[in-house]
Amino acid sequence: MSPQELESTAQALVAPGKGILAADESTATIGKRLASINVESSEDTRRSYRQLLFTTGGAGEFISGVILYDETIRQSTSDGQKFVDVMVANGMIPGIKVDTGAKPLSGAPDEKVTEGLDGLRDRLNEYRELGARFAKWRAVITIGDSIPSSHCILANAQALARYASLCQEAGIVPIVEPEVLMDGNHTIERCFSVTETTLHTVFRTLFEHDVLLEGILLKPNMVISGTKCPRQAGVEEVASETLRCLRRVVPAAVPGVVFLSGGQSDEDATAHLNAMNTMCEAPPWQLSFSYGRALQAPPLKTWSGKVENIAAAQSAFYKRAKLNGAARDGRYNSSMEAEKPAAWRRSRPTNWIRRRTTRLPSSTAGCI
Ligand code: 13P
Repeated sequence: MSPQELESTAQALVAPGKGILAADESTATIGKRLASINVESSEDTRRSYRQLLFTTGGAGEFISGVILYDETIRQSTSDGQKFVDVMVANGMIPGIKVDTGAKPLSGAPDEKVTEGLDGLRDRLNEYRELGARFAKWRAVITIGDSIPSSHCILANAQALARYASLCQEAGIVPIVEPEVLMDGNHTIERCFSVTETTLHTVFRTLFEHDVLLEGILLKPNMVISGTKCPRQAGVEEVASETLRCLRRVVPAAVPGVVFLSGGQSDEDATAHLNAMNTMCEAPPWQLSFSYGRALQAPPLKTWSGKVENIAAAQSAFYKRAKLNGAARDGRYNSSMEAEKPAAWRRSRPTNWIRRRTTRLPSSTAGCI
């Protein structure tokens, strides 16, 4: 894939009114999500739940791409259509999580480094064959009294840079995700400083590894108070501090910043994104979303593993996608939350996708 194709895929993922659905929970993590609604995790229940999301009619109006897990990218709907084909038909670009998880970092108690570089070149080539056009690698930075250590930040930045470089070689747009966790009693000021240092180190390392910045997306945390901090910053402060931090360290060549939700409520995640897009008239990068929990919490709860709830769960997913699509353009208003799911567009049957024509970047269309 040429640099231009990487750039056009990155730009398509942050197209106006659209953002990314992160549905790449590992088997362990999706197991916890399913347990929260009293559904046993099996290959079939995981597939059924993901099918519900991917076949939501009209989701492609607001969802530009979907990050999948290794198991999911190989799965098909109950009527035998490959998930990746369903996505492309529904106007969404398939992506893939390629890290193998955050593991204890030697010599650094309480800190982690993300693994998954061994054999990555071959796995990326296989994922591209399977239809993936972008990928994700999540590094985890924890805030504590005397952490993060500089070697934790550097080890994670180096892994992110190696991953990003291998992705671009394989014609896959890397989403670079250094997540500073919101768990803890730290202040928003401390989150700002750790996020600034982390992103600064990540971009320096990406530069050293010759990564094409126009062909990546950054997936950061927002600058936010720790969950147990007595003073919780409000929407305007989170938005303005996040933008102030990003302006210091994210080069203008990066096409888009797609935030993670990180444990924020779905409404907070939408409001924060909207505030950033409202207060920043001409940001150097597109400001969008790559939410997991903030898009999936309502449909997961509504579904609760019952066939008769699928349509309502799809309406709940469609609503969150639509509201985040609005927030991504600064058009969201909290009064939109009050609209009942029934007022949102109904989902369509799965076989509807067979008739729909796609409008995807040339790098994606026709190659799945
Ligand atoms: P959350 O939005 O739930 O943080 O998930 C996004 C993600 O992909 C984390 O890696």
